[in-house]
Amino acid sequence: MEDEIWSKGPKFRLSCWLQSRTISTTGPIAARVINRAERLRKHDEEIARRPEFDHSDTPIEVTKSPNSPWEYGQGVRMKSPGTDQAHKEIDPYAPNRQKTDNYHLLISGIAPRPIGFISTQSGDGKTKNLAPFSYFQVVDHDPPLFIVGIGPKSGQGKDTLCNLKQSGECVINTVSESMIEAVNATSIDAPYGVSEWELSGLHEAPSTTVSPSRVQESVFSIEGKVVDIKEFPEYAKPGMAPTAVVFIEASRFWIREDAANENYSHIYLDKLRPLGQLGGMAYGRITSTFDVPRKMWEDEVTENDILRNFTSRNGAKVGSQV
Ligand SMILES: Cc1cc2nc3c(=O)[nH]c(=O)nc-3n(C[C@H](O)[C@H](O)[C@H](O)COP(=O)(O)O)c2cc1C
Repeated sequence: MEDEIWSKGPKFRLSCWLQSRTISTTGPIAARVINRAERLRKHDEEIARRPEFDHSDTPIEVTKSPNSPWEYGQGVRMKSPGTDQAHKEIDPYAPNRQKTDNYHLLISGIAPRPIGFISTQSGDGKTKNLAPFSYFQVVDHDPPLFIVGIGPKSGQGKDTLCNLKQSGECVINTVSESMIEAVNATSIDAPYGVSEWELSGLHEAPSTTVSPSRVQESVFSIEGKVVDIKEFPEYAKPGMAPTAVVFIEASRFWIREDAANENYSHIYLDKLRPLGQLGGMAYGRITSTFDVPRKMWEDEVTENDILRNFTSRNGAKVGSQV
């Protein structure tokens, strides 16, 4: 019977699903579901036309930087198209501005974002959870500190936030290219208590300073404890848990042995193969990099004529910090 349903195509499957839930096949819920299914079908067709993912493990290319060689005061030498265009001012809180416009704007404009793949469990340890977050960043190394932005959700909020509040512990795992479909599967809005570990097919590995497991497939995992949670109830919609920013301090690092140097102070990019989350549903690979060395004032001001002239014109003493 199941096979028969699948063989008849998505529209037929959808109407069976709606009927099984006694949802009208013509009402507004059905229209929403059908719209979503149609969008997904079109997206599947589009994906089918694309070239295959390049699994060749081609070494990451290293080039010169975009404006190399660059001198002080030069700004952008190699101008890209559009740099002379005007900017449009937008008030994120304007009455006619949709919240979803801000969402799409921010995820496409603040890109690429790293993905923190967060493992948590409930206070009583009975429920495990795994979910990706790209409102995520390391914010310092001493102490090793991280932030995660967790968006609103109806009821008690996202499972990750509930667990972080209850247990105060987590493991932040990195996401490499090869993991992305499994990681994405864990972002499904599964009911509280459904284990995303099983859904994803990813494997648990033991942690030592916190209870939640780390992800075996991740090159780098960070056991961490919650140091603060800041909620924004003033923006919450009725019946929705508010947005929260969680501060996490690392208590242990786990690094895949072949992916780092001898003293575990550097992870190799070609082993990590990190993904950046971009706008829409897109992710970016890193296939090419360049170096831009950081300069020290003390070295530069004695060595570099432009900087020396600039300094004397601005009245600062050569060799002093401005
Ligand atoms: C790559 C990726 C990044 C995401 N980033 C965030 C994020 O930064 N904040 C957020 O609230 N949800 C984010 N989501 C959606 C959550 O993963 C999703 O809501 C998930 O169901 C939350 O799981 P939980 O309820 O089990 O905690 C992201 C989803 C994906 C696929």
